Amino acid sequence: MDRLRIRGGTPLLGSLYVGGAKNAALPLMAACLLSDEPLTLDNVPMLADIASLAALLRQHGATVDRGDGGRLRLHAPTISNTTAPYDLVRKMRASVLVLGPILARCGRAKISLPGGCAIGTRPIDLHLKGLELLGADIDLSEGYVTAVAKSGLRGAHIRFPMVSVGATENLLMAATLAAGETVLVNAAREPEIGDLAHCLVAMGAKIEGIGSDTLRIAGVARLHGAGHRVIPDRIEAGTYAMAAAATGGDVTLIGCRPENLETVADKLIEAGVEIRAVAGGMRVMRRNGPLEGIDVTTLPYPGFPTDLQAQMMALLATAKGASVITETIFENRYMHVPELARMGADIVVHGSTATVRGVERLTGAPVMATDLRASASLIVAGLVAEGETTVNRVYHLDRGYERLVEKLTGCGAVIVREAA
Ligand code: UD1
Repeated sequence: MDRLRIRGGTPLLGSLYVGGAKNAALPLMAACLLSDEPLTLDNVPMLADIASLAALLRQHGATVDRGDGGRLRLHAPTISNTTAPYDLVRKMRASVLVLGPILARCGRAKISLPGGCAIGTRPIDLHLKGLELLGADIDLSEGYVTAVAKSGLRGAHIRFPMVSVGATENLLMAATLAAGETVLVNAAREPEIGDLAHCLVAMGAKIEGIGSDTLRIAGVARLHGAGHRVIPDRIEAGTYAMAAAATGGDVTLIGCRPENLETVADKLIEAGVEIRAVAGGMRVMRRNGPLEGIDVTTLPYPGFPTDLQAQMMALLATAKGASVITETIFENRYMHVPELARMGADIVVHGSTATVRGVERLTGAPVMATDLRASASLIVAGLVAEGETTVNRVYHLDRGYERLVEKLTGCGAVIVREAA
């Protein structure tokens, strides 16, 4: 298992490219199952999660071919296998996104339950209740969900009791091929959902209300092939923005969309970071001494993203004064706290709230993370800390950060990857 060695204390200076969004690319890839014609996606990042979903799509009968420039050509002329097996689903929760498309196209789908996960129990009840409302019979047995809609799915009015990104995506995809109109109320509004909806429209779907919390889908008999460019990764951009700010650096994030990062930018500005939208991206600077502690609450989009909570905490660990972070999306998403504490951070967790009292400095230490974004927070902390930090279990980072070492080194960071 590889690890990263970071010598902290060097401000990040320069510019780096923000890649395509993993969380947009995954549902877009699943959407290839809705049509017998090819779907070509551009700007797809090279990440372990993308490879995992490609493996799953292949065993459903799709071909998935990589081209230049992040191009992925996906083609599912037929669905040769409607079962998503445990071995592939357990690697990545987002595998559940094949359920809606396969059911809509074949009238039947069987998928392993994704099971527990490092950041909470994460059930899929909202996905299943929605599919039931679209006319599917759902059966749970031996760790698998079997969904059957013998005479096809039919449109329905679905009000989500809570906001779920994955459930919105699954039901949006399923509804494109359901007979009649579907209305999704209290739908998630993450930019990745808008990206999926635009691609589905390019494939012939009829969707209104894109970008809002109410999506109206008029089902069509079939979807056709299309080409689509994946939006930039706002979480990758936010992570590097925090790394730049934490190290007292000046970094231009090329290719990111500032309009998808407004709440994040507002919070960074409140803490004392300078942010400027520049042509084709965003410049992040911290040149005026220490940051100030601030309060941050994670919320569905357009609120502050839970996927940047851990990185924000690493940033606030050396801010002046106290910060209060409240995590409202996932239970048990503070696993980075004991690791940050080992580096000298002063953080106390009570339930879903973490109080961070800023310290003068962090010190390097060997650390280990249990999930993707927690690992990213340890990178931010390692870049700030005095001395050397070793981040173990790099495979978590490979799930979501493309060419991380190269990008950070390009901005002057002292970071190497080595085989453990
Ligand atoms: C997606 C993102 C993930 C991000 C999360 C929240 C992808 C591939 N992953 O995950 O990076 O952290 O959104 O922004 O896009 N819930 C239920 N029942 C359900 C579904 C969800 O109770 O059927 C709960 C979850 O346990 C969680 C909350 O709803 O507490 C939000 O989860 P959800 O938005 O569904 O997250 P994911 O789509 O899994």
